[in-house]
Amino acid sequence: MSSDSTQPWLHQHSKEVQQFGTVRQFPLGLSYDARMYSCQRLNFSLADSQILYSLYKKHHWLMRGPTFYQLHLLLDKHASEQLALIDKLAERVQTLGGVAVGDPRQVAEITRVPRPPDGVEEVPAMVSRLLEAHEMILIDAHDAASRVAENGDDGTNDLLVSDVIRTGELQAWFLAEHLVHTPLVRSGEAAPLA
Ligand SMILES: [Fe+2]
Repeated sequence: MSSDSTQPWLHQHSKEVQQFGTVRQFPLGLSYDARMYSCQRLNFSLADSQILYSLYKKHHWLMRGPTFYQLHLLLDKHASEQLALIDKLAERVQTLGGVAVGDPRQVAEITRVPRPPDGVEEVPAMVSRLLEAHEMILIDAHDAASRVAENGDDGTNDLLVSDVIRTGELQAWFLAEHLVHTPLVRSGEAAPLA
């Protein structure tokens, strides 16, 4: 090929230049052990959040019944917010010198969130499943936030508290209110018809 060719060099491959589970040395004022620990915890939260995002999209698509429209829209809004969160978690791993989990097949190997049936569950069960995923992520985030703070990693603590925990808590509230059985037309205290 001549030196002035504009032909791209296609079909290139390489060996791994950084392995998953390792961290590079960045001058952040944080120890190797602190960055290593934070990356491990962040990758778990990242994998679980990617699954939660996918569950939101799945249930956004499969929604049905009288509350279809509002839940269809709400679940998509939550999915968008989880997607923004996923990017922050992944970029925090990279900021610390680590390797963020990205391929969905590796995500499936790492996540602790149970796999749903491939088909369709009843609407309250779909909402409950999302709530349970949220609580699992929140319990883990509270624990991770306090432990990374002990290691001096204030940036990761802030991300876990300000984004993972606060976003998750708010979304859980919006979901939980859809599992309250309230009369739609006639109050239970309404006077009997004459
Ligand atoms: Fe959609």
